[in-house]
Amino acid sequence: MHPTIATSVLAIIGYFTITNIIPQASPFFIHRGLFGKDMSKRGKPIIPESIGIIPAITYLFIMFLSIPFFFIKSSTGGKFNNLISLNNSTDTWLSSLPSYLSSMLSLESMILLGLIDDLFDIRWRHKFFLPAIASIPLIIIYYLEFNKTSILIPNFISNYLQLNSNSIDLGIFYYIYMFSISIFCPNSINILAGINGIEVGQTIIIAILLILNDLYYILGHHLLSGNSLLLQSAYEIHIFSLSLLIPFISISIALFNFNKYPSKVFVGDTWCYFSGMVFAVLGISGHYAKTLMLFFIPQIINFIYSSPQLFGLIPCPRHRLPKFNEIDGLMYNSFTEYFNNEIDDINNEKKKPILKSYLKPILSLLSKLKLIKLEYNEKGDIIKSSNLTLINLVIIWFGPHNEGELCSLIMKLQFFVGFTMLVLRHSIAPIIFGFDNSWSMLNRFYI
Ligand code: UD1
Ligand code: MG
Repeated sequence: MHPTIATSVLAIIGYFTITNIIPQASPFFIHRGLFGKDMSKRGKPIIPESIGIIPAITYLFIMFLSIPFFFIKSSTGGKFNNLISLNNSTDTWLSSLPSYLSSMLSLESMILLGLIDDLFDIRWRHKFFLPAIASIPLIIIYYLEFNKTSILIPNFISNYLQLNSNSIDLGIFYYIYMFSISIFCPNSINILAGINGIEVGQTIIIAILLILNDLYYILGHHLLSGNSLLLQSAYEIHIFSLSLLIPFISISIALFNFNKYPSKVFVGDTWCYFSGMVFAVLGISGHYAKTLMLFFIPQIINFIYSSPQLFGLIPCPRHRLPKFNEIDGLMYNSFTEYFNNEIDDINNEKKKPILKSYLKPILSLLSKLKLIKLEYNEKGDIIKSSNLTLINLVIIWFGPHNEGELCSLIMKLQFFVGFTMLVLRHSIAPIIFGFDNSWSMLNRFYI
């Protein structure tokens, strides 16, 4: 049986399993103290937290049950070997069992660390690096099995540098790059959060875009009847990717049904870390991290935009989610506050954050560009600035929204940007790079 068919069947079973388990398990999560307050509802009701552990574990089970379909073919009685097999005469669908198992090990470790974070609320600066630890098995196996450390560079750069080839060997820096991907993906999903549905919604959009990218290669392979070795390895990578994504999207939708507005469950950092790690695993083992980053553009923007708060230039409250207005039920900008010394001294309070003087003109400029919202006191001093999150930025641009509509607006924007990137990836990128492993270019090279 083709592995994508096997994983699709398991994905459907997984979907119904999760849909059944979540309502039954939710009271037990609350009973064990795993709950959070839904800050954007009247009365701030209590909702079970960390429910993402249920789809995450289901996903692992699906992937374990899929192993025989990837690595054993009935025609040969099933031995694990290193053949790249694309037709029925050979033994396996995927060439590397160690690589598959190390992906699963990294995902498992990430789920464990995410759960520990949910249980003990680890400080942001500590938990930031947890994904790097979880990715060690994956990266070590990548080193032992492939050790491919070169990346394509655009034609004009290789011409300018007078290089013989259009790729450059990054050596050790490639491994640093892979660790960065594995740190970035989970964390960037975790900080694009705070409104019902967005944590899962964004992962569904990324998965859809990756599936479209996989289908592009796979259909290309079938159209060209796999007549080049290069195309075959690209085909194998994308069969692997698709087989991981089909169950992923299925469990994500099952979770989304409970997490979307109005949320019945919260997914927890377990989900954010796990889902980010699924993407990191695909990008790293599939050697397509650059393409992956094209689908992470909203998360990259959110990360860069957040960096003054993340790195302490501007105070970063524990929660930066938008502010719920109980009167009209809409989400408005949330702010971080500044105080001046006088107020602190008079009230004899603990010193409160003061806006650094060199930041004042920068914030004023950003406010003129509609990139931030500021509030002033009667003396004209800045006393508040909107929290630097993409969600707040969308509210600045598109106005206050109902929470559910805000989530779907962000998902639509995310899909629009990602789809545009997908089209550019397969049209302009091959021209810039002078080469592409997708079928449209191979068409020109081999036919
Ligand atoms: C990240 C963000 C934080 C944001 C939080 C919301 C950074 C650096 N951190 O922190 O600003 O406020 O996610 O998830 O950007 N919650 C809701 N409604 C939702 C989702 C979450 O009210 O739709 C609240 C609940 O109280 C829930 C809590 O957020 O219990 C979960 O926060 P947590 O995931 O622990 O926050 P962080 O990931 O640390
Ligand atoms: Mg979180």
